[in-house]
Amino acid sequence: MREFYIAVAFPLLGVSVMDVKKGLEGLVVDVTRKSLVDGENGKLVICGYDIAELCEKSTFEESIFLVWNERLPTKSELDSLSQRLTAEMQLSPPMVGLLESFPVNANPMDVLRTALSAYAVFHIPPPKGIEKSRADAASTIVGQIASLVPAWGRISRGTANIAPRGDLSIAGNFLYMLQGSEASKEETRILDEALIMHIDHNLNASTFTARVVASTMADLYGAVTAGIAALKGPLHGGANEKALKELQDIWVNANQAYPQPVEQQVLDKLARKEKIMGIGHREYKVKDPRSSIIEEHAKRLAPAGLYQTAKTVEEVMVRERGLYPNVDFFSGMVYEALGIPSALFTPLFAVSRAPGWIAHVQEQYADNRIIRPRAEYVGEPLRSYVPIEKR
Ligand SMILES: CC(C)(COP(=O)(O)OP(=O)(O)OC[C@H]1O[C@@H](n2cnc3c(N)ncnc32)[C@H](O)[C@@H]1OP(=O)(O)O)[C@@H](O)C(=O)NCCC(=O)NCCS
Repeated sequence: MREFYIAVAFPLLGVSVMDVKKGLEGLVVDVTRKSLVDGENGKLVICGYDIAELCEKSTFEESIFLVWNERLPTKSELDSLSQRLTAEMQLSPPMVGLLESFPVNANPMDVLRTALSAYAVFHIPPPKGIEKSRADAASTIVGQIASLVPAWGRISRGTANIAPRGDLSIAGNFLYMLQGSEASKEETRILDEALIMHIDHNLNASTFTARVVASTMADLYGAVTAGIAALKGPLHGGANEKALKELQDIWVNANQAYPQPVEQQVLDKLARKEKIMGIGHREYKVKDPRSSIIEEHAKRLAPAGLYQTAKTVEEVMVRERGLYPNVDFFSGMVYEALGIPSALFTPLFAVSRAPGWIAHVQEQYADNRIIRPRAEYVGEPLRSYVPIEKR
């Protein structure tokens, strides 16, 4: 059929034939100063800094300043951004009312997407408000997302929302608002590291989505809302929740025996052509560097049997398919150890990725050309219209 189009239909329609790049694999569609993914060597660099060094030495707030300004902040710049972000975490009565109006079994990513979109409706005065407030919207969006997720965690369990505290970081407030008591320094630091680790990742699917929306010169709220929609999918941000569930199931089915019953389940899944969640990556040909960072915490915090199950799954996937763990493989185990419900894993990913989406959207606005690729037409060849009474 394709040959027919190339030989007959396209010349007839005046269309030139191009190679289809399914999934846009390998295509470089723009430049960015925000992050570099070196898939061959397993490196992630954020504005010139290795992700491992940022996780070790930086904070989420400082990393937000970095992706927005492409340099590290001074002390006063960091203090001012941190205060601003905490202030922006306050949820207004209409926003709390909106969350309370949702069914408690709603999908948390649907809740987050809808709530962020509604924020613009409630709080940005028309007609020019959204455009005028673009510069200020960045910290508002990050703060609101960081609050909406733990607030939904409580409201969906039938407990009242707790206001954020001015003396806590985003990570500290996330755990405090979710659990109702202040987390330990160690727990806060682990979550802070996880937030840094996810902050930006070159042109991943949700970031690209946000940039496409921004390229029409639509507003920041719309672009980030679209990013949330794309992140929900199990091939992207939705994998962290599914990966933990899958590993737990394999562990239970293996009846705590290793490695053979674990290995057999993976082989069976592969034979059925099922994908193992948290494994594989479009860019990384070796282990995702973020996976190695979060694994250190999983090794200490997760049940030993679950961690051992994961290591066996990893070994089988490397041996059988040459595929390695991505960031989502071990992160669920760590979040669970921090007391975060699995339904909030992907929304938590949105908390950490929102600054990266915004950084890319600002880059898009600064040097914009509408993103409008094309698809090769493989539908019916040119034909005559038949009136309805003759069909
Ligand atoms: C991340 C991902 C979407 C990348 O997709 P991609 O670059 O389009 O690669 P493909 O899905 O085309 O996979 C290429 C091959 O590897 C296989 N493969 C990729 N990931 C796999 C996985 N997790 N389990 C089993 N096989 C996998 C595919 O089946 C395909 O095999 P085939 O050539 O025999 O058909 C993919 O690896 C995946 O679906 N992983 C699981 C979901 C996940 O963890 N997502 C989080 C990403 S951070």
